[in-house]
Amino acid sequence: MTRESAAAPGLREPASRNPIVAGNWKMNGDHAFVERYVASLREADLPSAVELVLCPPTCYLSALARADLGIGIGGQDVHWLDAGPCTGSVAARMIRDCGATWSIVGHSERRIGLSESDEMVADKVDAALRAGLRVIVCVGETLAEREAGSAETVVLRQLDTVLARVPEAALAQIAVAYEPVWAIGTGRTATPEVAQAMHALVRARLIEMNAESAMSVCILYGGSVTPENARLLAREQDIDGALVGGASLDPGDFLRIAGAFAERATGALQSRAAGA
Ligand code: PGA
Repeated sequence: MTRESAAAPGLREPASRNPIVAGNWKMNGDHAFVERYVASLREADLPSAVELVLCPPTCYLSALARADLGIGIGGQDVHWLDAGPCTGSVAARMIRDCGATWSIVGHSERRIGLSESDEMVADKVDAALRAGLRVIVCVGETLAEREAGSAETVVLRQLDTVLARVPEAALAQIAVAYEPVWAIGTGRTATPEVAQAMHALVRARLIEMNAESAMSVCILYGGSVTPENARLLAREQDIDGALVGGASLDPGDFLRIAGAFAERATGALQSRAAGA
């Protein structure tokens, strides 16, 4: 695999904050789906200004990695241990061995659906970084938490628990995905303004940790991202990409979303902050 260089301990910094658009297939697909998807991507012009990452179910990682599309391949979760009596779980080094260069960690479907605590998520981020993976760390509040006025407190608590375990030198290996739980799979996207406000808060916290590295950390938005709303989201100063669930199952939609962020990266899409 040519992507070995992203490994710890020789952690390398990405050259700049190129947008990242990651597709989270969740528990969908089969080998035939992977083949069709790969064929579509081979026929397409992949945007060079955007880092594309696809996160299939673990059992399809190797097949997708073998296709050698020149994009990032990610797991959807890792265990916090490197090996051991954990039936049904997969270690970070194992998904790395299958060709993954990334992993999602802390998705709300695991935090809420499988009772993963902030501490478990932090342990998993630590394990993934030790295995040489880059990590998309998911944070986000529920609707009840937003309505109670505690969205910011919740997101910062989730983030701080992870950051306490990330060495400064490894900060550039993570991306943060702000995914309000009420927006996931509901068709109800956060407005660009609401998302930007939370992204700015996350950026401020990263800057407190290390001002220089913080500027290279991508903060992705996730929650019902579509080709239609991606251009509006991409205009926001601190929305550096997207973590896409449902829409990533259609390669055309996935690439249209990536295209919106490519326009941002090349300056074709003027940021709202710049007065567009
Ligand atoms: P969605 O999922 O795009 O289907 O809302 C996003 C996610 O859960 O990462």
